[in-house]
Amino acid sequence: MGPKKILLVCLGNICRSPMAEGVLRAKAMERRLPITTDSAGTSSYHAGEAPDHRAQAAMRRHGIDISDLRARPFTAQDFERFDLLLAMDADNLRDMRKQAPNAALAQKAQLIMDHAPLHPERSVPDPYYGGDLDFEHVYGMLDEACENLLNELSAHG
Ligand code: 4NP
Repeated sequence: MGPKKILLVCLGNICRSPMAEGVLRAKAMERRLPITTDSAGTSSYHAGEAPDHRAQAAMRRHGIDISDLRARPFTAQDFERFDLLLAMDADNLRDMRKQAPNAALAQKAQLIMDHAPLHPERSVPDPYYGGDLDFEHVYGMLDEACENLLNELSAHG
């Protein structure tokens, strides 16, 4: 498998996408895969902020530190800078594709849960107004999707 650059995208870039980045980064490191990761938000409300403390706590319960991550807004240039752009939900995907420079580049954007076809939900629910159980649910979905994604990339680049 060649080197891959993967961007994880949600709305605020303080809950779901930094959690997804943390899960993917940890799994890629464990497997020694040549993958670089980043995350971004379709809104800029939280630009510059560290992940939400509840997202950090959920990740820490699973042994993963995401305290180094900082929110930034998604931009059209991300379509050229990354090989794969994974949206957390259908709204994020639509907002990203609207910014795509052309139709071919727009195809780089997918739903992260496209990689977890056996899971009943296609979108990762926004946990911002929820509680610890919602953050745990998000973690479980991301763990399943990222595990499958790395299996796919290992099998056929
Ligand atoms: P995220 O969660 O998209 O998973 O980072 C949210 C964080 C903040 C807001 C919405 C969702 N907000 O409206 O401030």
